[in-house]
Amino acid sequence: MGQERFHHPVLVAEVVAFLVRRPGIYIDGTLGGGGHSLAMLQALREAGYLERSLLIGIDQDDDALRHAVGKLSGFAASSVLVKGNFQDIEVIFRRVCHEKSLEPNAVGILLDLGVSSFQIDTAERGFSYLRDGALDMRMDGDTTLTAGEIVNTWEERELARLFYRYGEEPRSRSIARAIVAYRQAHGSVSGTQELAALVRANAHGGEKVIKTLSRVFQALRIEVNGELDVLSVAMDGGVNCLNGHGRMAVISYHSLEDRIVKKAFAEKAKNDWGPKGVGLREPLVTGDITLITRKPLAATPEEIALNSRSRSAKLRVIEKNPQRSLL
Ligand SMILES: C[S@@+](CC[C@H](N)C(=O)[O-])C[C@H]1O[C@@H](n2cnc3c(N)ncnc32)[C@H](O)[C@@H]1O
Repeated sequence: MGQERFHHPVLVAEVVAFLVRRPGIYIDGTLGGGGHSLAMLQALREAGYLERSLLIGIDQDDDALRHAVGKLSGFAASSVLVKGNFQDIEVIFRRVCHEKSLEPNAVGILLDLGVSSFQIDTAERGFSYLRDGALDMRMDGDTTLTAGEIVNTWEERELARLFYRYGEEPRSRSIARAIVAYRQAHGSVSGTQELAALVRANAHGGEKVIKTLSRVFQALRIEVNGELDVLSVAMDGGVNCLNGHGRMAVISYHSLEDRIVKKAFAEKAKNDWGPKGVGLREPLVTGDITLITRKPLAATPEEIALNSRSRSAKLRVIEKNPQRSLL
């Protein structure tokens, strides 16, 4: 698989324009094939900021890191690539800053959530219902829970709850029932295609089949990788790493992710106006952040035509407020 085909980054120009505004430390918490990181490093070089900047790239996937190392080889002196989970963004960031004797103040952070095209296209990793592979779905091969374990050991009720909660799948119960019946008849569901066939047989017809397949596979992937839990943690950790006026951009691809991002940012942006009726002209304590994008930004029709993955992308950007309080 060539570097170029690893993954087409989404909303690259927008991410660079929002984030790259001065020299400093940048964190790409979802390095993937390094597409966004490369664009940010190139922009830093063009602006004459590169010598005073460092990009810390994090990914939990060994394949992604291997590809990114190659892609960013021209920027080896300005980047540090780390295997890790972005839920540990703050710890990783502080450790790298300590090792490099840098003040732990980030000026730009990116999280481009979900899986890369490379992960989806690698059949044996089991992310795709279109390819024949093991029911694995782990982004980090060092973890233990696999999709196969869930599908083959969870009770019907737990499976139904999972498909409903993380897939928002209306036919969650009948799919769970079919899986358990299949297990009883055949011992286990042994791969992506056996699972896909079961889901197809229990979905409504037409286009709905594809939607149901996507939702069931999405639910399993989210559970295997603890995606929503780690995202909530990373929302706090990321903002903690930022310097005053530093920015964080998050690209999400489905409503469950976007809801977490939107809520976390909205809460951090809230001002404290003190007791009601006091009528202050300025808040007692300003929020930690300012929303730069009040509504999430979507890809242009041109980008969607070139890269179908960008169709569902939503970009939200915030800026950390310098610490200020009237108290
Ligand atoms: C959509 S891709 C990022 C693509 C990247 N922006 C690029 O330009 O190539 C998401 C990447 O984030 C990684 N990832 C997802 N969740 C993660 C987590 N909790 N911690 C670290 N990496 C994660 C995945 O392994 C995948 O490589």
